[in-house]
Amino acid sequence: MFFKFSVVLIVLMTVFIVGCGYEPYQEETSPDKSIVIQTNLDSEGQFYYKVLYKGKVVIDSSTVGFEFKNIPPMKNGFEILRAKKQSDSESYELPWGEQRYVESDYNQLKIDLREKENLGRKFSVIFRIFNDGIGFRYDFPKQKNIDSVVITDELTQFRLTGDHKVWWTPGDWDIYEHLNNTSKISEIDALSKRSHSSLAQTYIPFNAVNTPVTMKTEDGIYLSFHEANLTDYADMTLLVDTENLVLTSGLAGNDLGYKVEQKTPFVTPWRTIQIAERAGDLIESNLILNLNEPNQLADISWIKPMKYVGIWWEMHLGKSSWDMASGRHGATTENAKRYIDFAAKHGFDGVLVEGWNTGWENWIGDDREGIFDFVTPYADYDLEEVVSYANEKGVQIIMHHETSAAVSTYEQQLDTAFALCERLGIHAVKTGYVGQIIPDGYYHHGQYMVRHYRKVLLKAAEHKVMVNAHEPIKDTGIRRTFPNMISREGLRGNEFNAWSSDGGNPPEHLTIIPFTRMLSGPIDFTPGIFDIKFDKYKPNNQVNTTLAHQLALYVVIYSPIQMAADLPENYEGHPAFQFIKDVGINWDETKVLEGEIGEFVTIARKERETGNWFIGSVTDENDRKITIPLSFLGKDKTYRAMIYKDAEDAHWDKNPTAYVIENKEVQNTDELKIYLAPGGGVAISLFAN
Ligand code: NOJ
Ligand code: CA
Repeated sequence: MFFKFSVVLIVLMTVFIVGCGYEPYQEETSPDKSIVIQTNLDSEGQFYYKVLYKGKVVIDSSTVGFEFKNIPPMKNGFEILRAKKQSDSESYELPWGEQRYVESDYNQLKIDLREKENLGRKFSVIFRIFNDGIGFRYDFPKQKNIDSVVITDELTQFRLTGDHKVWWTPGDWDIYEHLNNTSKISEIDALSKRSHSSLAQTYIPFNAVNTPVTMKTEDGIYLSFHEANLTDYADMTLLVDTENLVLTSGLAGNDLGYKVEQKTPFVTPWRTIQIAERAGDLIESNLILNLNEPNQLADISWIKPMKYVGIWWEMHLGKSSWDMASGRHGATTENAKRYIDFAAKHGFDGVLVEGWNTGWENWIGDDREGIFDFVTPYADYDLEEVVSYANEKGVQIIMHHETSAAVSTYEQQLDTAFALCERLGIHAVKTGYVGQIIPDGYYHHGQYMVRHYRKVLLKAAEHKVMVNAHEPIKDTGIRRTFPNMISREGLRGNEFNAWSSDGGNPPEHLTIIPFTRMLSGPIDFTPGIFDIKFDKYKPNNQVNTTLAHQLALYVVIYSPIQMAADLPENYEGHPAFQFIKDVGINWDETKVLEGEIGEFVTIARKERETGNWFIGSVTDENDRKITIPLSFLGKDKTYRAMIYKDAEDAHWDKNPTAYVIENKEVQNTDELKIYLAPGGGVAISLFAN
């Protein structure tokens, strides 16, 4: 009797499995087996995945799905048509980056889902499992019952396994310029943090966080959530269910009531989860780049990392102005020449000139449309003359396109604007999008703007121009495919210290940024302020770090373009300026030696071509003693070390400019013991003799 029953059951089960196509349960691991993805369908035919790290669940059963305008959602009633595995392993070279060669090694699991009833619509979930994390995306094939779709919500869940400690900024649809908050997941309350930015109108849905968002579990595992290859889609914020500890994708939208319009076939960006045991491994990870396509630009000879100075900080301090009517115009021919002379004398590659074109008298406000044209200089600024003077001195001018978020105007001007750059031999432009997007109803991080930023990048490439975008869309690794995407802002840069009414960036700011914002890509932070208090211009503002901390940022913060942001007169004759002149800008290798999020971080980078190493370390408001083992240096070689460190009585507020320079010879068997003052840091050049 029992035997018969079992046979019947087995037969029934076989019929069931065959009837459904593939077995719903699927599993795949990372190449080193440390990460496991398990997927299945639940009783309602909802697809879910689970992530394990070293045998422990780090993401519990999380479902996926989509809601659309005018057609039924796709979130349950699925069957699995096919499950396919595939592996890939390669190494590629970056024209510029934190390192020269990148390893990409993953196992892929692709699951084709189809609605059993309804319209029989299909999409696939593609998982790529690397040793340092996972990415997954949705692939909508061309099919009868979906042609054009309007996505009103993407329902990707990330079910956390505990009330982790989290470093987060609010999921603003317009600007990423917010300070990081540190809390438990259950304590996230994004709405109460909404007014950090004084420059833009912001829209923050309740309890949403921006990505990359980084957390630490009770077991000491670090997780960071972000996305890769954001192309023709909307930025993903994460909506936080503070009770059930579930994050769900919350796409940035528009006032038309939808998030994304697409036509099949299409793929979404990759949803990424970095997993690490050491906080520094998050920074060393290449997950985001590995999930982007290889370089698509044929000629990249004009793409070059550079250090630059510029007519910039003086406006933020109020020493001069962007507009001419004030009588304190910064971008005059004469002033530009002064900066060019300074750049040439000290070996800088570029000079940024802001406020060079007409329109700045009225650049913020309701009548912004059509104000800037990007080709008409002010009467006191002879563009041609400045450019030819720069050429003579071997310095490049960096063009500035502040759009004041009048995107429609800028799009009409793009051809003319970039043709001018090409004619003048200008290979770099800094763009800006201050204010609310024109046309009305769109936000900086929605699909409309994702398309716009990409359009600008491609137009720039046509004219051999690199783009450094301020008020950008967040980085998702696009620089691998379009290496003219040289850097971007997308955080509270040094400029906030010049004018922010909330006191500027606190000392801990740059001990969090490397583990959050910097995981997405290069940052144009504009470091290097030596006149920390600038009482002459802004007695109520200051930089909240020591001078040595400012130096360390050239290594800690990665960007292939770095500004020496302070006024030339504050650098001239200053011994610490030597570090900014010496520090590398393009790297063979990067090592995060030590660090804890929100406390301190120490990073070493090896310069391409010279083999010199540079080390930067920054601390929060607490002082600390660090030990830096130099075991990463070449064996049996002697390096000349120049150490720029906080003086013993240095303090970010009470004594920020007290520093000491120490010179000595070191080898890879040595250790450096260094004191970091409150809000302090250390910057070290190691010259390979
Ligand atoms: C905001 C940018 O972040 C800043 O660098 C620039 O100077 C102003 N906009 C003006 O364009
Ligand atoms: Ca900005």
